[in-house]
Amino acid sequence: MTTSIANSLIPFVDLKTQMESVAADVDAAIKPILASGGFIMGPAVGEFEKSYAEFCRAKYCVSVHSGTAALHLALLACGVGPGDEVITQPNSFIATAEAISFVGATPRFVDVDFETYNIDVAKLEAAITRRTKAIIPVHLYGQPADMGPIMEIAKKYGIKVIEDACQAHGATYGGKPVGTYGDVAAFSFYPGKNLGAAGDAGAIVTNNPEIAEKVRLLRDHGSSKKYEHRIIGHNFRLDTIQAAILNVKLKHLPAWNDARRRNAAYYTEKLQEAAVVTPEISGNCRSVFHLYVIQVDNRAAVQKALSEANIQSGIHYPIPIHLQEAYRFMGHRAGDFPVTERLAGKILSLPMYAELTPSQQDRVIEIVQKHAD
Ligand SMILES: Cc1ncc(COP(=O)(O)O)c(C=O)c1O
Repeated sequence: MTTSIANSLIPFVDLKTQMESVAADVDAAIKPILASGGFIMGPAVGEFEKSYAEFCRAKYCVSVHSGTAALHLALLACGVGPGDEVITQPNSFIATAEAISFVGATPRFVDVDFETYNIDVAKLEAAITRRTKAIIPVHLYGQPADMGPIMEIAKKYGIKVIEDACQAHGATYGGKPVGTYGDVAAFSFYPGKNLGAAGDAGAIVTNNPEIAEKVRLLRDHGSSKKYEHRIIGHNFRLDTIQAAILNVKLKHLPAWNDARRRNAAYYTEKLQEAAVVTPEISGNCRSVFHLYVIQVDNRAAVQKALSEANIQSGIHYPIPIHLQEAYRFMGHRAGDFPVTERLAGKILSLPMYAELTPSQQDRVIEIVQKHAD
């Protein structure tokens, strides 16, 4: 039995179509690596770091093996450790908080803005204590956090800022790409990201030479020369093959981001009459729409209707970090971060990728219009 186009699966993320579009270049990039055996720290790694730094208009990029590793090493390079507190938001992927915990520090959550989903800068100062060493604002769903006021507050209190840019490759704030507003930024190249590897991958970018050097040492056993170890480090290196794939895909990223923005504009225009709240993008920001997130009161019914129409959707994220079992030891309760918690019950992520077609979007829009109330 064949599935008709009208009923064919609309995946939440379509990695297959994107990989097909670059398959020949990826094959050509990988073949010499397979033939040479230069799997660890081959030339593609340095090439990628140079290109990605340029893309972010940053002085340095140091690659690592995931976004989580990038956050972890960024925190270490900023001198964050046991006894310190790091402010972040409770509506991120758990890795943001995990990295704080793994360096021995404590996450201090600050609630988010109901419209932008990013950290509420009006609530930031009240969360600062003697122990606060850093702030990790998350550029959630691809929209930059309000970096101007965040940097002003950080400066006033002598606090480091680590941008969690894992969902925001190429997003701009005040016309400049995210990544160099803070002291350092962490990016993820998890396959489903706007720039995705064929496995796990990540990087930090910074304009600070000491932070770049510290991360470079930490990601490779504290070593810049084989078998000489200046500090105790990790094995957090990026594989050469992943770097080669990222080199191919990075060339397409501006066009892919443009396509995501076009698709987002199409959803927003067509959903004006539906009983949903569409994304609100601040005037000085350009989102790269890693995710297209709406708010809908009867979410379960809409998700069910989408699923019955063979359309995948997601929730980012259904359980806020402060209510996760892993963070129960902190003693938070429901009600501690009301905006985050309210959003968690209403947010719904619709299919979003560069390759999404208008007819696929029309099918999604039709179901949402019909079932949202
Ligand atoms: C906001 C955010 N922070 C951190 C991470 C962690 O990145 P990775 O999965 O590459 O470790 C992700 C992605 O998964 C993310 O979306």
